[in-house]
Amino acid sequence: MPSAADLGPVPDLIRRAYDPERFRADGHRVVDTLADHLARCIPPTDDDLPVIPYVAPVDALTRWPAEFPDEPAVDSDLATTLGATARDSIRLHHPRYLGHQVPPPVPGAALADAAAALLNNGMAVYEMGGASTSQEFAVIAWMVRTLGMPSTAGGLLTSGGSVGNLTALLAARQAAAGFDAWAGGAHAGPPLAVLVASTAHYSIARAVRALGWGDGGAVEVAVDDAYRMRADDLARAHAAAVAAGRRPIAVIASAGSTATGAYDPLPAIADFCESHALWLHVDGAHGASAALVPRLHHLVAGIERADSVVWDAHKLLAMPALCTAVLYKDETRSYAAFAQEASYLFAPEREWWNTGLRTVECTKRMMSTILYASLRAYGVDFFRAYVDRVFSLGQAFGARVGAASDFELAVPPDANIVVFRYRPDPSITGAALDELQATLRRRCLEAGRWYFLTTRLGGALWLRTALMNPLAGEDELDGVLDAIRGAAREVAR
Ligand SMILES: Cc1ncc(COP(=O)(O)O)c(C=O)c1O
Repeated sequence: MPSAADLGPVPDLIRRAYDPERFRADGHRVVDTLADHLARCIPPTDDDLPVIPYVAPVDALTRWPAEFPDEPAVDSDLATTLGATARDSIRLHHPRYLGHQVPPPVPGAALADAAAALLNNGMAVYEMGGASTSQEFAVIAWMVRTLGMPSTAGGLLTSGGSVGNLTALLAARQAAAGFDAWAGGAHAGPPLAVLVASTAHYSIARAVRALGWGDGGAVEVAVDDAYRMRADDLARAHAAAVAAGRRPIAVIASAGSTATGAYDPLPAIADFCESHALWLHVDGAHGASAALVPRLHHLVAGIERADSVVWDAHKLLAMPALCTAVLYKDETRSYAAFAQEASYLFAPEREWWNTGLRTVECTKRMMSTILYASLRAYGVDFFRAYVDRVFSLGQAFGARVGAASDFELAVPPDANIVVFRYRPDPSITGAALDELQATLRRRCLEAGRWYFLTTRLGGALWLRTALMNPLAGEDELDGVLDAIRGAAREVAR
């Protein structure tokens, strides 16, 4: 009888799971399955292939039962399950995908993602990410350069724009509050506030509340007819914050905003911040990528003056989720966001090579590797072409909607986000007009042929598309308008 100390050999089941040859065979089958998925989505495509194989949520549950075998059956291999997953998933590479600000990842990035998952370097400390830490510094340096930020600038990668905005606001608080809120808590000094337009992403409102500043912590700045922040309203908002007993510490600008893709006027906002000693945070999660394209550069002019910028690579850099850069004009500020010491991981002095000192995450995915490998494999020109193409799609779609007598454009698009509505008859107003948009969108969703969204803007319901797929073209731009007209005819019947 073996003693408790006698471990014995590695069980066969474990050896088989880690067998490199099994991985090689699984990998070939999975890549073939995913390449077949792409081949069905990417033109020339099977015209009947739905962009979204929509089923009601309750029916979807029964397709994926919570039953897992002790001994897998032959058909429970990875390729079979992943092929079925692709079959039941919304198809972001399909040219009729005109939905959220989530791109069809450039396919090589998915392979880099698989490599990152296999290598699984934990990143918090340099030793657990020898290559990926240096790759993170390289992609951050490239991003800083692209935005024209000064030589003192630097930053880090984190898991998404929402976490990025929270991270930047933590740094802003430590830099501008006038007291040590990290050590003493949110109430160790006067109540703080940021000045922000209602068009900012809701992650800003969440960050403000998570920081303990409550509802009054976000003081609203007015927007103009194009939904851009009115820099000439900043003085009023600042005075309102002070009158309410708040100490304003920052202005949050959007480049561009979530609902309409509008770019706030950064130079005028930066002037105001400089003259009032306010931290300028630019949420460029969606639109900072415009800096890559010379003809779009005017949209982000002034971003280089920001104290912090958030830029999502999993939006307009065609990366798989998640990969967000938080960039600081003065990189040393990034340490202040997380001032505590986790001594089992870090020496007390600032060790720039341990990226976990500056992020919410302890363990972090090797997101740098995915972006770094993609930049190397596809070249910067691919990323320029991608951004140029999707912004051109936005412009072209805006022009089509503007020219159609039965549609209305909410605002000429700055970016690749277009907000519009179907209004064949000007006498349709108010709740009936809203209900019409909701009905048309629901019908198109359930039919699965087109995928676009709704959004609330100026108190009304509108249709909305983020044109993220560079493989879409004129057929899709015309086609979605025709599909909406067709749905309206069916409703009228
Ligand atoms: C302007 C803006 N900021 C932040 C976010 C949040 O980013 P994430 O979804 O990566 O958390 C979004 C998401 O759409 C956004 O549009």
